Amino acid sequence: MPLIDLIKQRRSVRDFLDKPVEREKLMTCLEAARLAPSASNSQPWSFLVVDDPVLRDRFCKDTFNGPYFINSFCKKAPVILVVISERSKFFTRIAAVFRGTQFYLLDIGIAVEHFVLQAEELGLGTCWIGWFNEKAVKKTLSIPQSKKVDVLIAVGYHDNSIPFNEHKREKLEDITAFNNYR
Ligand SMILES: Cc1cc2nc3c(=O)[nH]c(=O)nc-3n(C[C@H](O)[C@H](O)[C@H](O)COP(=O)(O)O)c2cc1C
Repeated sequence: MPLIDLIKQRRSVRDFLDKPVEREKLMTCLEAARLAPSASNSQPWSFLVVDDPVLRDRFCKDTFNGPYFINSFCKKAPVILVVISERSKFFTRIAAVFRGTQFYLLDIGIAVEHFVLQAEELGLGTCWIGWFNEKAVKKTLSIPQSKKVDVLIAVGYHDNSIPFNEHKREKLEDITAFNNYR
């Protein structure tokens, strides 16, 4: 499928089938993430896949409690990808201070979207999750508290009986200019 059609097809999936995800497919998605570009080729990421049903249940119970309850649909996702933000190279950290740009977050965003688009191509649904109890994530998975977990991805097969809403986006002409800022 042409990339633009894959991009148009992708939606945030919040209704999952009770069907496990093949490890082989996950490995392909992780390979797509691994190959992402990053500032100074820092590759400031590592990925922890939670696909053990018992661990995932406990993980979701702790991670989406209290104010994070709105994301408890993740309990039905057979896989949660935990994206750990690792330390960038020294030069990138210095450049980030001078530029006031969190390059590592750009890097993570690219890598994770590689994962998401590869998942889409393999027939998997995903949802980015930025609203969660980070302390609980680290405690449940024995990730040192000094590490940063900026994002999770829920992964699974979409329950097609529940339709998607329309894509809501700004019009291209309202966000695009050639040669002069609007
Ligand atoms: C960085 C980031 C964080 C997000 N966090 C959440 C979240 O915590 N819960 C949720 O349901 N969706 C979350 N989303 C999904 C967005 O709500 C969704 O991408 C947006 O509404 C557009 O819809 P679409 O993905 O179906 O095109 C997040 C998306 C991004 C990129």
